[in-house]
Amino acid sequence: MSDEYKIPNHVAIILDGNGRWAKKRGLKRSLGHKAGFDTLKKLSDYIFKRGVKILSIFAFSTENFKRDKEEVDYLMNLLVKKIHDLIKEDSNVKIIFSGRKDNIRDDVLNAIEEVEEKTKNNTEHTLNVCFNYGGRADIVDATKKIAEDYKNNKIDINNLTEETFETYLYNSIPDIDLLIRTSGEIRISNFMLFQAAYAEMYFPETLFPDFKNEDFDIALDIYNKRDRRFGGVKK
Ligand code: FPP
Repeated sequence: MSDEYKIPNHVAIILDGNGRWAKKRGLKRSLGHKAGFDTLKKLSDYIFKRGVKILSIFAFSTENFKRDKEEVDYLMNLLVKKIHDLIKEDSNVKIIFSGRKDNIRDDVLNAIEEVEEKTKNNTEHTLNVCFNYGGRADIVDATKKIAEDYKNNKIDINNLTEETFETYLYNSIPDIDLLIRTSGEIRISNFMLFQAAYAEMYFPETLFPDFKNEDFDIALDIYNKRDRRFGGVKK
């Protein structure tokens, strides 16, 4: 095995623990999301500086619509008002969104489209914001597009492979190398099921708003100690 320090190409984070962070301080849950957003701003910048090319974040799941209206509205407003803060003029980050575009407010859709348009020519890094996202929905929606293409004679089903299937997902991006879920919960909760097939997983106890750049360095050290075999055997 080489001794070279490995930087994962694609890191994915389930930003969990905002609510508990707020509760511990006697604050409303929404203030936990605000604190989480502030952490995300610093952390995404740092992760890209460390050389990671793609960062995916779970910002809002399809299931999160089950929460109180006040909390859902807060998260929607946070996206509308703050998403532009994730763009730094000198950082060359393309922001893309993965998720269902139906069922979301017009102002949220506009903010999403605006930020995608503004950053579409950036090439160095990609920030994939999973919003109104579910991993199973991603696979089902891809399958519907494939069925549509089949009906219109656009694809030969005998040529459908894992690689071509992947291009029908909300976004065609490489597999996740390192998946982090904060707050001590040990599950992936319907997040990027297709792309997480061979991800190394790390579940720190830290609540997301407290997850600092140094905690990401620890995650990288742990990743470097893992022996990735992708189903093969150790040489
Ligand atoms: C999970 O914590 C977190 C969320 C449902 C929202 C995460 C969103 C952000 C940090 C903001 C990112 C936003 C944009 C606009 C990119 P939880 O509320 O489930 O925490 P708990 O398990 O402690 O209750």
